[in-house]
Amino acid sequence: MKFDKPAQENPIDQMNVVGRPHDRIDGPLKTTGTATYAYEWHKEASDVAYGHVVGSAIAKGRIVSMDISAAKNAPGVLAVITADNAGPLGKGEMNAATLLGGPEIEHYHQAIAVVVAQTFEQARAASALIDVRYRREPGAYDLAQEKPSVTEPPEDTPDKIVGDFERAFNEAEVKLDATYTTPDQSHMAMEPHASMAAWEGDKLTLWTSSQMINWWRGDLAKTLQIPKENIRVRSPFIGGGFGSKLFLRSDALLAALAARAVKRPVKVMLPRPFIPNNTTHRPATIQRVRLGAKQDGRITAIAHESWSGNLPGGPTETATNQTELLYAGANRHTGLRLAELGLPEGNSMRAPGEAPGMMVLEIAIDEMAEKLGMDPVEFRILNDTQVDPAKPERFFSRRQLVECLRTGAERFGWSQRNPQPARVRDGRWLVGLGMAAGFRNNLLTPSGARVHLDAKGVVTVETDMTDIGTGSYTIIAQTAAEMMGVPLEKVVVRLGDSDYPVSSGSGGQWGANSSTAGVYAACVKLREAVANRLGMEANTVEFTDGQIRSGDRSVPLAEAAAGGTLTAEDTMEYGDLDKQFQQSTFAGHFVEVAVDMATGEVRVRRMLAVCAAGRILNPKTARSQVIGAMTMGLGGALMEELAVDTRLGFFVNHDMAGYEVPVHADIPEQDVVFLEDTDPISSPVKAKGVGELGLCGVSAAIANAIYNATGVRVRDYPITVDKLLQGLPALV
Ligand code: MOS
Repeated sequence: MKFDKPAQENPIDQMNVVGRPHDRIDGPLKTTGTATYAYEWHKEASDVAYGHVVGSAIAKGRIVSMDISAAKNAPGVLAVITADNAGPLGKGEMNAATLLGGPEIEHYHQAIAVVVAQTFEQARAASALIDVRYRREPGAYDLAQEKPSVTEPPEDTPDKIVGDFERAFNEAEVKLDATYTTPDQSHMAMEPHASMAAWEGDKLTLWTSSQMINWWRGDLAKTLQIPKENIRVRSPFIGGGFGSKLFLRSDALLAALAARAVKRPVKVMLPRPFIPNNTTHRPATIQRVRLGAKQDGRITAIAHESWSGNLPGGPTETATNQTELLYAGANRHTGLRLAELGLPEGNSMRAPGEAPGMMVLEIAIDEMAEKLGMDPVEFRILNDTQVDPAKPERFFSRRQLVECLRTGAERFGWSQRNPQPARVRDGRWLVGLGMAAGFRNNLLTPSGARVHLDAKGVVTVETDMTDIGTGSYTIIAQTAAEMMGVPLEKVVVRLGDSDYPVSSGSGGQWGANSSTAGVYAACVKLREAVANRLGMEANTVEFTDGQIRSGDRSVPLAEAAAGGTLTAEDTMEYGDLDKQFQQSTFAGHFVEVAVDMATGEVRVRRMLAVCAAGRILNPKTARSQVIGAMTMGLGGALMEELAVDTRLGFFVNHDMAGYEVPVHADIPEQDVVFLEDTDPISSPVKAKGVGELGLCGVSAAIANAIYNATGVRVRDYPITVDKLLQGLPALV
């Protein structure tokens, strides 16, 4: 089915099942420990062996020699696989760095060997016996040091220019020119990367933890140089991804190679301390924002440049995305700068681009409002735009930023805020309120599904869509139930298997809308098949309460399948509606913090997010997405930072002891409000995404609240006590 006109009224609009806060249908499996995660598939195979990965001890250079003899002779060892003996390997499309390195070393902890043994302990012990000699080459690891020499945009990413920024900025009555930094961050999903591989002849089955089944299958085929059809990828349950599992990772390749070598199923898991340097991370940025406005608060000039680094071939962090679209202003300049660094590969982490972009832009907007003597909510509302500022004929499909901000201000008690910083005391605590806009673009991805109706009236959905903790199982079941007019209990959902139709997968917050739109398309076909089977006109029948009705005639749905299961399959594809309309999601984030005057400790006391993110398919799972994102935003504001060793080129704090993330004790009451935002431009389901929107802007709201509390403006994330202490007023 092709979606190229605004959606008409359709069965989803009934909202009998869709739009209701149903519990997760996979909840019982998870809470009873019976959902099978990647490292637990040995129940499916006997004779499983274990692989342990060896990572490079240098960031850049060459392996001069690798002696694997002691490891090979160690107890229980079945094989030691390196680039030398793995056979010819190709390279997937999605990775900058090679997944099995050597002799060339591209980054620290790049996999250079996997030791396979009877037990995990034997594999781990033997891997310590591998003797590697390296020749280290100098590399660049410090973004700040590289920045001055990087003044031009990458070839494929020219600057975006509207009007004459320089002139308008020079002439502006009020100006801000400030530079901010965001650090490298690690996804730190609960479930580590893990895979089990098993070969039958030349056919490979890979059980893994993947957000994008079809991308993994394609890249694994390219890397192993075998036909894609010979690989089955299965990933029905995933313990978090946040972008770390978008692309094929070393555990999957090494499990496949190891299983082929030892002719047994092999499991490989990446230990936690290995993940931050072996896999991808969110790259650090240095961002310069310049704003010019008239005395009345209208923005006349807006510029945003962002520097990030990466390995050769790695992407830029697109931190200026939102600045193209969030506020009005006739003269604009945004641009990305990419430094070549020898650190591990930077790539997508939850809301790549907008997450670090909004961390910065929304502090700058707060600073500008203060310079203008305006309330930051009113300043944003004054500069709202309903059109793409670069193409004024192009409207947003829907845009409720103003409503998000007004609703949030009202509910949070924003009018109680003292605009003078450092004026509100609660004992030894300085208390402040802060806010920020939230923005994330809405992306659409083709998505397919297959649906069956059996003689018991059970509807089964199959799609290679993944559920990374987001609630995909549940919203897909709700969609099918609504379309076929059956209760949720009559729907079975099967996900995460490359035997099923290719879906959107989970990424870029496109999964909810895209994957349910694919299910919608398949269900439209199944409805036709049902009507045909019963000799009814497809466009006159109603599917409700497990019955099909046409005029006076009413037949149980199951009867259509009495002669055999009915099956339909389709893929939702998109025309160019997204060229005609800009599609984005919006939020207002509000935060209250308290800062200890003596120690600089920051406690977040209250958080509120008001979101406009299309039709909310399930308010319960959507709320979970947003409070998870708000929690991540708190981590980004106050804690998270991969510490770079700029001499040797690696992330030092590569475990959860050194890389701090929020725990329950750090998180206050979180309130989430969804505005009615049914969007006929996004798909027949009329939904968008919330999982990334919920993060974008949160950290800046906290930074702005800290400023309001203390009068200390920190422009370098995370806002740790050392950056606050000097500026705090004396405790009297
Ligand atoms: Mo998302 S960072 O595209 O999983």
